[in-house]
Amino acid sequence: MSATSEEPSAKIELLPASREHVSILANLLERYVHDFSEFFRLELGADGRFGYQHLPLYLSEPNRYSFLVKVDGKLAGFAFVKRAPGIVHARELWDMAEFFIVRAYRKRGIGRRVADAVWERFPGLWEVRVMESNRAARGFWMKAVADFSGGPVEPVTIEKDGMRWLVFAFESGAVFE
Ligand SMILES: CC(C)(COP(=O)(O)OP(=O)(O)OC[C@H]1O[C@@H](n2cnc3c(N)ncnc32)[C@H](O)[C@@H]1OP(=O)(O)O)[C@@H](O)C(=O)NCCC(=O)NCCS
Repeated sequence: MSATSEEPSAKIELLPASREHVSILANLLERYVHDFSEFFRLELGADGRFGYQHLPLYLSEPNRYSFLVKVDGKLAGFAFVKRAPGIVHARELWDMAEFFIVRAYRKRGIGRRVADAVWERFPGLWEVRVMESNRAARGFWMKAVADFSGGPVEPVTIEKDGMRWLVFAFESGAVFE
């Protein structure tokens, strides 16, 4: 049996978050950042939390969107989207700023279905960035972007602040800006 088992019957919801969800997102972000601390040097604050300073912006700025992910009614992750100038394309586009599926729901095809739902929600040009050192996410985006785009999308490698990133650029839907 493969490590990944698709769960097409699971009900996946992408719920727009608002200020009332701030502590839920803050809690999930702690788990997300903790995952990153495995391959990227991050220090805990004195309060035992990593923190995520941009969270209030995702609940207030008109060019930022945050979503809670639920699977069969249970909290299972989040996605943050930003409208901003891209890296591969210098013009305004959709950026998958943060994306997280909690461990208990991983490798079941949930992340892919959530990514598809996010991309379909915002038609136009997209970029997705991933640290080269984040091997799991690299494999995930390679597959998710290729399946969504109907063929492989070669990422562009960039270096910023001594770190290497892969950037996938692709279109969602029939809307051309
Ligand atoms: C990356 C992440 C979103 C994947 O979510 P997921 O629900 O487990 O992914 P899926 O089950 O939909 O996987 C889809 C495909 O991605 C690839 N993939 C997923 N996890 C992978 C892993 N650990 N290693 C290699 N490839 C992987 C597989 O090719 C899989 O295809 P398959 O189903 O045909 O095998 C999840 O592991 C996560 O939240 N990680 C921590 C946060 C993070 O790194 N976010 C991305 C920031 S850029």
